[in-house]
Amino acid sequence: MANLKIDELRRMRALSQLGGGEGRIQKQREAGKMTARERIDLLLDKGSFREIDAFVTHRETNFGMGEKRILGDSVVTGWGTIDGRLVYVFSQDFTVFGGSLSQVHAEKVCKIMDMAMRNGAPIIGINDSGGARIQEGVVSLGGYAGIFLHNTLASGVVPQISAIMGPCAGGAVYSPALTDFIFMVKNTSHMFITGPDVVKAVTGEDVSFEELGGAITHNQTSGVAHMAADSEADCLYLIRELLSYLPSNNMEDPPFKSSKDDSLRTEAALDDLVPENPNKPYDMKDVIHLIVDNKEFYEIQEYFAQNIIIGFARLGGFPVGIVANQPMVLAGVLDISASEKAGRFVRFCDCFNIPLIVFEDVPGFLPGLNQEHGGIIRHGAKLLYAFCEATVPKITVVTRKAYGGAYCVMNSKHIRADLNLAWPTAEIAVMGAEGAVNIIFRRELAEVENPMARKTELAAGYSTQFANPYAAARRGYIDDVIEPSQTRPRLINALNMLQNKRDNNPPKKHGNIPL
Ligand code: HXC
Repeated sequence: MANLKIDELRRMRALSQLGGGEGRIQKQREAGKMTARERIDLLLDKGSFREIDAFVTHRETNFGMGEKRILGDSVVTGWGTIDGRLVYVFSQDFTVFGGSLSQVHAEKVCKIMDMAMRNGAPIIGINDSGGARIQEGVVSLGGYAGIFLHNTLASGVVPQISAIMGPCAGGAVYSPALTDFIFMVKNTSHMFITGPDVVKAVTGEDVSFEELGGAITHNQTSGVAHMAADSEADCLYLIRELLSYLPSNNMEDPPFKSSKDDSLRTEAALDDLVPENPNKPYDMKDVIHLIVDNKEFYEIQEYFAQNIIIGFARLGGFPVGIVANQPMVLAGVLDISASEKAGRFVRFCDCFNIPLIVFEDVPGFLPGLNQEHGGIIRHGAKLLYAFCEATVPKITVVTRKAYGGAYCVMNSKHIRADLNLAWPTAEIAVMGAEGAVNIIFRRELAEVENPMARKTELAAGYSTQFANPYAAARRGYIDDVIEPSQTRPRLINALNMLQNKRDNNPPKKHGNIPL
């Protein structure tokens, strides 16, 4: 008798594993996509997945739905490990009603999110869904709203990662949008508020799925997504790698990983990396690679706002968040997109106790009508606010330019940076020599016989006085001027020194970041 009951359990479990059935699984494969369960298996450590709610079924009876109940409904939920560390997962099953979100689908997702928050582990959501379960109407909308609330409450408590592996449209996009990182797969994943047909009807624009909301669009143009993977397998691998830099929750420190890379390693190449001519670019990624452990830099939003670089690395085994101006793109200027990109990243690192390292070479904020009308004032303020409020260890290395307001914004001493270092090539001033001379000597230049020659002379004088790190160092705004080759050991030493840093913001409900 007992065996019959066990047989029945096994039969039901096997049925639940089949989701929408062989035919639909086949269709999923033909579309170049894995099934919900295959994705989980590849994401987690082998054999570690424990599923719950496999016997849940939807409650809808309208439209003949009473006869169409599938065990587990359209989402697979549970937990497992990545590199031995606990994570919670939900994976939408497109083979069941197109992965659409029913009331019970939402309940399953929220249950997993509650568990993740209570037990302090990351949540990874794999999205592949036709959106609201049309047969359930407003009940489905309520389900979405419940998930949005959970995403918001979990924000800053546990890391939340979204993988988009199929359609993700309409209001459904707002769950991923509320999470910390969005990964997309090239060619098979799409995110948009309204699809190409609605766009055509409303605006007359002809646009493909890919152009409207594909991985490249959201990684390059909109900045909605953070990573673009070549394949689903690649995407899942990248998520595993990202987690290696993150703590499981906001009460933990990020995971230390000992490295064979010598903490005292100096790097002679850095001494000659910054060109003599201040208008000549160099690749800030070379600087980063030469300094971090094993040259390993996990770049985030590589294709968006390339004038600023953000990402994770390790220094002496400690995970760090890196923010760096990129002189190769727009001379490393701060604009709206760069401010938003870096501001959000700084806040993520601060939520999760990840020290911030800033490499600075910034000529200022980007001038222009577009930028001003686009609100560079309030967008730039986001990055400033983020650095000001961050209480994690904060270290800055000025490699070359640190001009004007951008000097203040980029983790300056005055906004609670712990250690501000400069290379001898640093130029810390209100503005570049030429601009400064044009303003302060305008009258003299208008009167002299050879204004060009006089301008060059005056600019040289200004440069000698201000285009160096020593005016700032004399005032203690720069704690030390270092030889570039020494940067790695100096940063690792500083991270050790700051290990027990304690700093707090005044008690408040929450601040009012200029959104
Ligand atoms: C119920 C759905 C569904 C949905 C798809 N299916 N979407 N069932 N509710 N939202 C079912 C289909 O009927 C089909 O069932 C199966 O899933 C696979 O769908 P196909 O259309 O055959 O697949 P494909 O050709 O790959 O097209 C995928 C798709 C398309 C582009 C996602 O299905 C589609 O346009 N679906 C509707 C999308 C939509 O308008 N959703 C509501 C958006 S509003 P069978 O039995 O034939 O296999 C919304 C609001 C959220 O989401 C608000 C939150 C605040």
